[in-house]
Amino acid sequence: MRNAKPKNGALNQDKTPLLDTLISHAKRKVISFHTPGHKNGRGIDKRLASFTGRNVYALDVTVFPEVDSLHDPTGPIRKAQQLMARAYGVEQSFFLVNGSSTGNMAMILSVCRPGDSIIISRNAHKSTLGGIILAGVWPIWIQPGIDQNLDILFDATPEQVEATLKQYPEAKAVLVTSPTYNGVTTNIKKIAEICHARGKVLLVDEAHGAHLIFHKDLPMSAIEAGADLIVQSTHKTLSAISQGSVLHFNSKLVEMSKVKRVVSMLQTTSPNYLTLASLDLARRQMVAEGEKILTKLIQHTERARAAINHLTNFSCFTRAEIQGRGCDLDVTKLTINVTRSGYSGQQISEVLAKDFNIQVDAADLFNLIAICGTGTTKADLDALVNALSEIDGKKRGEAQNWVLRIPSLSTELVMNPRDVFLLYRSKRVSLRKAIGHISAQSLTPYPPGIPVLIPGERITAEIVEYLEDLTERAIRVSGQEAEALRTVRVVALH
Ligand SMILES: Cc1ncc(COP(=O)(O)O)c(C=O)c1O
Repeated sequence: MRNAKPKNGALNQDKTPLLDTLISHAKRKVISFHTPGHKNGRGIDKRLASFTGRNVYALDVTVFPEVDSLHDPTGPIRKAQQLMARAYGVEQSFFLVNGSSTGNMAMILSVCRPGDSIIISRNAHKSTLGGIILAGVWPIWIQPGIDQNLDILFDATPEQVEATLKQYPEAKAVLVTSPTYNGVTTNIKKIAEICHARGKVLLVDEAHGAHLIFHKDLPMSAIEAGADLIVQSTHKTLSAISQGSVLHFNSKLVEMSKVKRVVSMLQTTSPNYLTLASLDLARRQMVAEGEKILTKLIQHTERARAAINHLTNFSCFTRAEIQGRGCDLDVTKLTINVTRSGYSGQQISEVLAKDFNIQVDAADLFNLIAICGTGTTKADLDALVNALSEIDGKKRGEAQNWVLRIPSLSTELVMNPRDVFLLYRSKRVSLRKAIGHISAQSLTPYPPGIPVLIPGERITAEIVEYLEDLTERAIRVSGQEAEALRTVRVVALH
């Protein structure tokens, strides 16, 4: 681990207080008159139990004093959160059981009041728009950078943040995504300095970076870089079960009790204790063995990257290339560019799944994204490289001339997204008739994964033409309500 923290007997990182409590409770075979209804697994349907066994469900309990409460922890959950905070070197860590999606909403709700504005990159995850709507804030968008050789987007640079803060000094906070889905990190240290020099709060969506702090050969984590609130999907790259995530607090500008109240408001009162225990375990594993696990993973992914870069039709950008663009790269993520093959990423992804039993995390026209984690083995990466090599030798698609573009659309936000969402009725109108109306929905084509419209924005002729062009080319737009995008939901003012 890069930042070894002082040892503290009460906070022994080898301990897993939540898991130990759950196992000890399960072993006593306590007669359950609490939820869930399956009662320690007895009631679980055979079809599932014959595959998984029943023991695991004895750990699926609910809130009672022995196992503690996520909302007001005083026992093992409190201890597990303290251990997490100590491992990451932050003041407080809050466990999340609905992913970083909840974390993003919680960050915005914790620092902004209705009517405030927040600076945010337009390619931020959709949950940030949820936070904007819930909090009633005005987004000030930063246009992401684009690289048409690598066919990827870059999040906000320090220069963009500084210029935007100069233009909008009233902004309450800045939210950046680092690493991006492609593993590219921006210069958070510089952005934190810029924000803090002006008394602004820096929020970082580090959903893809829970592992960064545990290895010196990975980019600097947002925590080390000085961000105020940081959200991580422990389940994405470490060994937590799906949805297991953490919101880290490390701020002199934000009120911690507000964050606690907001996180509590957004979370279920029936958290999954297995998910919570898996956060406890993922932390222990990283502190104990993270360096070893990540050293191997870095070696394996770097070897795979080099092998892919020897193929004719596939390529994988390197850390040096990204550093040359002023950013850094988490090398455990492989973004595999397929454009030379004449096939789209989706087509190659289908071949990998059907013919080679390999599932990648995502695919678009240009790239495949292979996310590696603590469970990835050399054999897995060899299988991926061999499959790509076989496809490379055998298949050749029609040459395509796709170019990754960000539409230069000038969107004017004329109503607060929350007002649109909560106060007004909406109606569907045909695309053509939508010009001049105010959008009541988000529409996000992939790629590039940037919303063309969000609730509250005026729909222009340019936007309609862009959307019509996507429809003609049968490109699916996230948010479209029918098989083809022929209508858009607008605010019904009358
Ligand atoms: C950049 C980013 N932020 C946030 C999220 C949401 O994370 P979760 O799935 O843990 O809710 C994702 C999910 O893919 C993401 O890619």
